[in-house]
Amino acid sequence: MAEMKSNNILSEDFKDIINHGKNIWRRKPSMRDLLLWLVIVGMTYLMLAFFITGRVKLSHPKPSQRKFSARMRDERNIDSNAPAKLPIVTSPATTSNPTVARKSFFYIQYPKASYNVCDRLAIYIEVRDGNNKTKTRGGDFMWPYLQTVSLRASTPADKVIDHGNGSYTALFTLHWAGEIEPFVRLVLSSEEAYFVRSIRDRIPYRFAYDAKFTDGKTSEVTPCHITKDMYVDKAAKGLLFVKKAEVCDFSDPRTGSTWYCLKPKSLSCSHRSNHRGSPERGNSYLQQALLHKKVSLAKPEMLKNTGNVRTVKVMSKVSDSACLDLPHCNPGLPPKRADHSAGYYFKDLWKSKVCLASELQLKETIECLRNKHLFFIGDSTIRQWFWYLVSHTGQTMKEHITSTEAGVRRVYGHAFDNAHNITLDFRFHDYPLIGDWISTSVIYSAVDLIDSLPGGRDTVLGFTMCAHFTFTNLTYYLSRLEPIRDAIVRLQTRGTGKATVIIKSANTGTLQVTPVNTELLCYDLDLTMRAFFREVPNVTIIDVWDMTLSHRGGYNIHPSKLVVGEEVNLFLNFVCSKRA
Ligand SMILES: *[C@@H]1O[C@H](CO)[C@@H](O)[C@H](O)[C@H]1NC(C)=O
Ligand SMILES: *[C@@H]1O[C@H](CO)[C@@H](O)[C@H](O)[C@H]1NC(C)=O
Ligand SMILES: *[C@@H]1O[C@H](CO)[C@@H](O)[C@H](O)[C@H]1NC(C)=O
Ligand SMILES: *[C@@H]1O[C@H](CO)[C@@H](O)[C@H](O)[C@H]1NC(C)=O
Ligand SMILES: *[C@@H]1O[C@H](CO)[C@@H](O)[C@H](O)[C@H]1NC(C)=O
Repeated sequence: MAEMKSNNILSEDFKDIINHGKNIWRRKPSMRDLLLWLVIVGMTYLMLAFFITGRVKLSHPKPSQRKFSARMRDERNIDSNAPAKLPIVTSPATTSNPTVARKSFFYIQYPKASYNVCDRLAIYIEVRDGNNKTKTRGGDFMWPYLQTVSLRASTPADKVIDHGNGSYTALFTLHWAGEIEPFVRLVLSSEEAYFVRSIRDRIPYRFAYDAKFTDGKTSEVTPCHITKDMYVDKAAKGLLFVKKAEVCDFSDPRTGSTWYCLKPKSLSCSHRSNHRGSPERGNSYLQQALLHKKVSLAKPEMLKNTGNVRTVKVMSKVSDSACLDLPHCNPGLPPKRADHSAGYYFKDLWKSKVCLASELQLKETIECLRNKHLFFIGDSTIRQWFWYLVSHTGQTMKEHITSTEAGVRRVYGHAFDNAHNITLDFRFHDYPLIGDWISTSVIYSAVDLIDSLPGGRDTVLGFTMCAHFTFTNLTYYLSRLEPIRDAIVRLQTRGTGKATVIIKSANTGTLQVTPVNTELLCYDLDLTMRAFFREVPNVTIIDVWDMTLSHRGGYNIHPSKLVVGEEVNLFLNFVCSKRA
């Protein structure tokens, strides 16, 4: 009774928002919108390719931009000295004696002739500089893990202890029988980690976004940013820094989203039609802010095992290889237990160390999802969950494809199974977004989307927001998470019974090389997100970071189907464990 009463009050209060939001889900995007979204996917791949090549390229403005910037020269409040006034951050190359992977090493501590499943294993890691001198401080960003290739088995470390003097201890639990080999991947030296974080905190203008304004045949492109300060690309003079210029304000205080675009000369703010974000040009902004000091980061490298023992032999003496007493997968469990990894792979199946998860069969999955509406909101990594479910929940699950054009289904997700009354939906989150031109009419606020969900026990929300925020600082990221948390709390008070809310953590695979986007930035966002949602009752965070740290398939911002299948399986274990 009490629950119903509060429902009524809430539905009055949020009627407007909910009604408004409902339209968001109903509205079908036009072909053009869909194609633009498609282009974003393509651009993400190009961006990754760019990062992988490891080159720092300065892009030249296209002719259309040149024209635009020439027109821009006058009137504007252009502070051409500003870049020189920006704080200068020391490049890691100029720091004396940074960590050098090739001189660093690890070994197994106190190796034994044989081990049992559930025994602990410790490895000692020492990092050295180019002169082969042990470092005197910690802070290196490294990923130790264990693998048995023939068993398709692997696990991240339970814990990495930084002794602060150039040495580290990585602790593991041995979860399977066989020959197990330890590895250590040095992702960023402490010097690079410091540099990357300094840039994040002190140079917010390291990413290039544009708006296109269109009216009939007239169109104009202007830069956008989360603050009113931004760079303007002026072909002749290079980049100019514009401070508190005349802007169109597309911010939404209710959702914490700030978004400003330089006012177009001949059109009004309401003519905004498209958005894009370019990491490549953003990197040239960074070079400018660093006064053209060319900076790139070292590629991740494996450390040498200099011990006498390469692998350990493990015998099985236990029936429960999780080595922990696990609860059922009830909502609200932490993403991992203290001093334990979130799980491990055995024969490519993820064995959770958080809860008693099982590999769900198709029949169970369909029965569990009967009458449910699953909403996936976030970036391309949660779109992978949507796609996986579309193609793995039986013959009667059909994607609603609005066009026969190849690939349109990648940009707007809606699928249903009439036989079992199961509905799946996917939408992207809002600014800042990277990728090529996209219609602004299909950019929805994540807060509005969540407010539009019906709520109740048949509603399932899968949410993630990380990869597109590596270009912002942690304070800004938090300011965007707060209204999302509030929307989630509102969601859980709507309808009969509680909606299931699952947050997908960030995954590895951002790769690096340019300091504007590295694994470390994603990792820091992820820690921030976890700490923030820890206090929110009945919200479950799935630790996809650990699920993508040691898999034999390597690192990819869009993990392989094998990995995504295991992510979705764990998600379903939480969705399906809920007692009515
Ligand atoms: C570094 O020093 C160690 C001794 O501490 C030596 O065994 C090793 O060969 C040296 N490594 C290189 C690359 O010079
Ligand atoms: C660093 O500190 C740890 C813990 O105090 C110690 O065990 C280790 O020997 C030290 N390593 C070096 C290289 O000084
Ligand atoms: C974070 O970024 C925002 C937006 O660029 C800026 O206003 C704020 O001062 C920054 N805060 C910190 C603590 O760096
Ligand atoms: C289908 O499921 C939704 C909840 O997701 C429910 O509201 C609706 O009544 C169901 N329809 C049928 C025909 O059972
Ligand atoms: C979480 O949800 C369960 C089931 O709906 C409920 O019994 C419990 O009180 C909730 N926990 C909190 C802290 O709200």
